[in-house]
Formats: sequence, structure tokens, C-alpha cells
Amino acid sequence: MEHHVGHVTQIPEREALIVTINGRSIGIFKVDGRLYAVKNVCPHKQAPLCRGTVGGTMLPSRPGELEFGLDGGVLKCPWHGWEFDLSTGECLFGVSDRRVATYPVEVRDEQVYLKLR
Ligand code: FES
Repeated sequence: MEHHVGHVTQIPEREALIVTINGRSIGIFKVDGRLYAVKNVCPHKQAPLCRGTVGGTMLPSRPGELEFGLDGGVLKCPWHGWEFDLSTGECLFGVSDRRVATYPVEVRDEQVYLKLR
């Protein structure tokens, strides 16, 4: 089912617009023109995940090398720092196979629509 969220300019860059739809708290993010929707509950200890920061992460690299990447594609939980892929919800922290729910977002005529299953 589709839900109107608002005008695209209401979504702040790299910060969540948090909406509640059918009792579900969901954060809508805009990063470099792309939109993402993420359930606002961390699968670790149920923190308000979408109050976390959007950034990148350290990538797997060779010994002695540090490689930062995925800038703008990672949401970091404000409580214990677990990191999640904004588009897939996959946990990137490396110690858990838990993922956070993500939802499709569409923009039509500059209006943002969220699709919930
Ligand atoms: S509650 Fe999110 S990392 Fe612990």
C-alpha cells in the first residue's frame, strides 16, 4: 500500500524525516538526491535507529591499510554504533546477520510516496 509522505524538499539531506504510518515509525533519508526509507528500530536493542548518523564505513582491506568507503550509504545507530546499509538494511558491523527493514520510496511530481507491504 502506498502512503504520501510529503514534498521532496521536506526531506533533509542526510538526516531523517521520521513519520509514523500504521503504527510503524520510519525514517526517510535523502542522500545526494536518492531517497531511502528505514524502519526506525535498531535490530540490536531497539534504539531509534533513524536518529543515528549517515556516513560511510571502513571497508575490508589488506593488513596495514585503512580504506574508508560507502560514504552516504551507511546508517550508524546512535546507541552502540552498529552500521546498516541504507538501501538493503544489511548489518555491516560484521558480528550479526540481523538487518533492519527498508521500504521502497518513489518520487512523482516532487511528492514522496512510501510503499508498505
Ligand atoms: S541498539 Fe542499535 S546498536 Fe545497539
